[in-house]
Amino acid sequence: MVPRRVSFDWRETPLHWIPDEPTATHVVNVLHLLLPAGERWFVKVFKEGLPLVTDARLLQDVKGFMGQEATHSVQHSYVLNHLAEQRLDTDAYTRHVDFLFERLLGEEPPWGIPFPAGKWLLYRLAFIAAIEQFTAVLGDWVLRAEGLDRAGADEVMLDLLRWHGAEEIEHRAVAFDMYQHCGGSDPARYARRIVTMCVTAPVLLWLWAWGAAYLIRHDPQLAGRSRYSLREHNRAVDKGLLPTWRELGSAIPRYFRRSYHPSQEGSLRKAVDYLATSPAARAAAGAVGRAALGRRG
Ligand SMILES: [Fe+2]
Ligand SMILES: [Fe+2]
Repeated sequence: MVPRRVSFDWRETPLHWIPDEPTATHVVNVLHLLLPAGERWFVKVFKEGLPLVTDARLLQDVKGFMGQEATHSVQHSYVLNHLAEQRLDTDAYTRHVDFLFERLLGEEPPWGIPFPAGKWLLYRLAFIAAIEQFTAVLGDWVLRAEGLDRAGADEVMLDLLRWHGAEEIEHRAVAFDMYQHCGGSDPARYARRIVTMCVTAPVLLWLWAWGAAYLIRHDPQLAGRSRYSLREHNRAVDKGLLPTWRELGSAIPRYFRRSYHPSQEGSLRKAVDYLATSPAARAAAGAVGRAALGRRG
């Protein structure tokens, strides 16, 4: 599991990168609002957790995971710059996301809550495992989402989403394994897994609805003429432009199973196949190959 040093050229990507589908476009765009701060935070928390890892194989996976998430975070932040260049400024929203990850979920528990030493880190690792359940489900969805191709979605954006989705499938079990490894013994370890999912799912839903509403309200091309609505959202779901509620919702009880392991999420075959054809991943692999040849020469 290695990070692919991809890059994307956003110059030709229109604001509504799914043509005539502002709601679907902005619901997906919420990813760009949450992931730069969120995935940067994953890396930070994992760095704190590294001394707890006593298994060489897991340690290697964790380092691969950190490299991949760091790259994802940076690439999504470039999309925010691209939105800003098109007069869609996202700072007023991302400030709250930064506060969430840096303060509420920072190195120390918020508001001086007295957590027993070391326990706060375990909660934060459990939160990452819960979030990664959804990134795996979304990654699997986007690799299969032919509705986006049918709708003529921008190819660069599709490549970003599918490259990222494929790496999410590739490392789908790492955060879970990390938590299981560091989380102590059951039943406390299992209870923490349940509690953090019970917080993660509603908070993500709320951040998503808020983010989509924010983007639609501040979209200069829509100029305040439309609002984010469940009706428009469901219409986009029917066209295959967004995952179904059932796909998303069923990920939760699955995660609650005691015997659960994320290696069952999505299709690794599909992920690997996509990475073999992804323009960005191929270009990154080519650059690595050329550098290696250069070193040898
Ligand atoms: Fe990621
Ligand atoms: Fe991930």
